[in-house]
Parts: sequence; C-alpha cells; structure tokens
Amino acid sequence: MGKIDFSELTPYAKVFTGLTKEREALLIEAGPVIKPALADVTERFYTVLQSIDTTAPFLEGRLADLKKTHQAWLESLFTGPFDETYAQTMYHVGQVHVKVDLPVEFMSGGMSLIVDELIALVFDIYGDDPQHCPPLLKAINAITGFSLLIMQQSYQSSSLSAELDRFLAITGMSRTLFENLAGAYSN
Ligand code: HEM
Repeated sequence: MGKIDFSELTPYAKVFTGLTKEREALLIEAGPVIKPALADVTERFYTVLQSIDTTAPFLEGRLADLKKTHQAWLESLFTGPFDETYAQTMYHVGQVHVKVDLPVEFMSGGMSLIVDELIALVFDIYGDDPQHCPPLLKAINAITGFSLLIMQQSYQSSSLSAELDRFLAITGMSRTLFENLAGAYSN
C-alpha cells in the first residue's frame, strides 16, 4: 500500500473543501468565543449517538474518554494550525475508527451531527449578525469538510489494506507474489 504524501494531500483537500487562509484565520479568531461552549456540543453529540441503534454499542464503557478526546478535537478546529500535522492527525483518527470496525458512514453521519450543533452554536452566539454569521459558518463548513475528507481517505486505504491482508491469509499467497502479479497486470 503506497504511503500518503501529506504535502500533496493537504493543499488538495483545502482546495476541495474551500479551506482558504482567510477562513483559517476566522476560525482561530473565533476560538476564544466558541471554545467555552464546546463541552455542550460534545454532550449533545454523544446524546444523539447514544440514541442511534448502530452507534450506541460502540460507546459502551468508554463514553467519558470519548467525550474528552472529542472535545479536544473540537477545540483544535478553533486553534489551528491547519497544516500537514493536522492532516496527519486526522488521518490517524480515521485509522483508529477503522481498527474498531466502525462502518464508513459513521464518519459522514457523525460530521453532519457535529456541523448541525456548531451551526446552532454560531447562531446562539452571533444571532443573525450578517458580518459574523455567514463567514464563520462557511469557515466551519470548510474545516469540518477538510477533516472528513482526510478521515475518509484514511478509511479507504486502511480498509483496502485490511481486505488485502485477509485475501493473502485466505489464499496463502505471499505479499511479494501479489505485488509482482499486480505490477505485471498493470504494466
Ligand atoms: C465524524 C466525526 C468524528 C470525529 C471527528 C471523531 C473523533 C475521534 C477522535 C479524535 C478519537 C480518538 C482517536 C485517537 O485515539 O487518537 C475517536 C475515537 C473513537 N471514536 Fe470517533 N469521531 C467521530 C465519529 C465517531 C462516531 C460517529 C462514532 C460512533 C460510535 C465514533 C466512535 C469512536 C470510538 C469507539 C473511538 C475509540 C476507539 C478506540 O480507541 O478504541 N466516532 N474519535
């Protein structure tokens, strides 16, 4: 499985999700106002996940730890920097979810729930202030889309890699033989 080049993936994901320098600056600027309310966002996120039949079993016995890591991640959305290291972290978070066998739709579903909560929070704080609300909502859409794109990229490669491991174990084929065959096939 080829290694990910984060110096390519990071700018690619930024262009695709509209994460511009201006929006990055807006997120960091809003940090001091938004961060104190993120514990509530986390609480509501897990309340919804506990009410969904497919997600609830994955939370048993680890809710307190999950809330801590989740809140820390939410705070990072309003801290920055949104660089290659952040992209690598999100890639790792994707792999953690693959390892515990979460279905891939948990990523997009989860992110929709988070964005939903963040939209409500921005309206709570800024009301319908046209100077703050629309640009900040666009910036939140961009950073959550950026994070999701990277998590799903990781999902894709980790799932493929796990499938390949299973295939090699079932067939008894060596990785070298598989790579030679795959190389010969594509040439
Ligand atoms: C899409 C938005 C999501 C984000 C940003 C997110 C974020 C995180 C983070 C930062 C971690 C810690 C990773 C580490 O140990 O380095 C984590 C772990 C975990 N998340 Fe999520 N998560 C998301 C969605 C979900 C959903 C929908 C579920 C459903 C139950 C879930 C269940 C878990 C579990 C079970 C772990 C712990 C895995 C382990 O270490 O055993 N996550 N998540």
